[in-house]
Amino acid sequence: MNTVDLSIYSEQPDITEKPAARLRIFKPFFVAGISVLLSVGALWGAINLFFIGEDKNFAAIDYSWVLAHGHAMVFGFVGLFIMGFAYQAFPLFKQASLWRPRLAYASLPLMLAGLILQMVAHILEPHVPFLGLGVFSAIIQLGAVVIFALAIAKTILKGGTADHWDRFVYAALGWFVLAAILNPVIFWLFEASDTEEQFLFNVSTFNIPYRDIQLLGMAVVMILGVSLRILPEYFGLQKPSERWRNFLLYFVNSAIAISVVTFIASMVTENRIWMALYQLSAMVLLIAAIGSPKQFRMFKTKVRKPDRGLKFIRAAYIWFIIAMVLLVLNPVYTFGIYMPLVEDAIPFSHAYFGAYRHALTVGFILMMIVGVSSRFVPDFSGIDRRKTNTLWIPFILLNLGNALRVTTEIATDFVPGAYQVMGYSGFIEVIALGLWGYEMIRNMMAGNRLKYV
Ligand code: HEM
Repeated sequence: MNTVDLSIYSEQPDITEKPAARLRIFKPFFVAGISVLLSVGALWGAINLFFIGEDKNFAAIDYSWVLAHGHAMVFGFVGLFIMGFAYQAFPLFKQASLWRPRLAYASLPLMLAGLILQMVAHILEPHVPFLGLGVFSAIIQLGAVVIFALAIAKTILKGGTADHWDRFVYAALGWFVLAAILNPVIFWLFEASDTEEQFLFNVSTFNIPYRDIQLLGMAVVMILGVSLRILPEYFGLQKPSERWRNFLLYFVNSAIAISVVTFIASMVTENRIWMALYQLSAMVLLIAAIGSPKQFRMFKTKVRKPDRGLKFIRAAYIWFIIAMVLLVLNPVYTFGIYMPLVEDAIPFSHAYFGAYRHALTVGFILMMIVGVSSRFVPDFSGIDRRKTNTLWIPFILLNLGNALRVTTEIATDFVPGAYQVMGYSGFIEVIALGLWGYEMIRNMMAGNRLKYV
């Protein structure tokens, strides 16, 4: 008979009535997240990228398809993984039982139903009842997100002692709820404009701030908080100083809030001072990206607790720096390189911004999710981590695919041949994620077959 390695739990005795190890709430959330990733998320994104590559034109695909992909990735993949991980791990970290587990479970069907209906609404556009359906589906998702935020906040409070990472979690929950509140408004603004002019104004004014709330607020802030909690204890990395933790908490959250406000102000007033302030907040994020791996001593050669997930986490933090460098250099590229070379260009390179966005989303956010789940899924499932697959092939393919994507996407501004390479890069990422997803499901299923000691 196999026995179960519950080392993760033994460090902090489980004081819940029903052992959290047996309440494997992460599982349906992770399975749903992987299913979304490998269907309407990454696979759909790769198909879109392929058509863009073949047509050598970013407008080759319907914008509703891009919105469907973006939403599936952010709420479907990132959202479901954040929810599953938090429901499972935070009670253990805080030595408290999860607040109202049944309600927490109920947030999954709500989130999934809302997501599926929103996908249908995006694809249905402009046919009736796309607008009603889009708004209705967004309200259902808001319900799921509110339940999640409440359950996690209550669980943390039950834990009694306050930890430094709690405040990151509260901030990320706030950003997540805000993103869910804005979702129906954005759906209406982007999908139901009366004129082409209005559509262009809405997208150019609100797309970047909305994505900043989702990607930087909800995802990056949560990742920073979870990193502070898990990297020293479960990977044996250095604990960042209190000064650094405070800098991350206050400056990163303020930078995100300032970037949202100043970007909208700059588009509405056309006053360049707002853009300068936006760039200042990008600088703060770059400092956070450069300083974090340094603080964790992430690349020290001898690691006390080696694990297959660590290579993904190290790569993720490198991608975080790359993404923030691209963000800071955006005006230099736009005005110094792109505009002088491309005739009649508006001051915005879709290619450059798409590259920045995927350096952040695939390189940092997705890579962190992959790394952290590769570390914790065996423990959560009760199987021996040391006997699991090292995941080197998905690691190499994911980095290769994303490096090709980011470089060739920028190159499409000048070299038409780059389109085709970019068009295939998505499939490399999908293969990598398929292999990783298969390993995660295998680990979870192996856990199902075990008997607890
Ligand atoms: C895994 C491989 C991925 C592929 C092949 C892919 C593909 C694409 C394509 C073709 C576009 C439209 C063109 C462009 O802007 O470059 C796009 C946009 C977008 N993607 Fe991805 N993507 C991937 C991963 C992700 C991830 C992990 C996230 C989020 C965590 C994400 C979020 C977005 C967002 C927010 C947009 C912009 C939507 C908008 O314009 O509002 N993508 N993606």
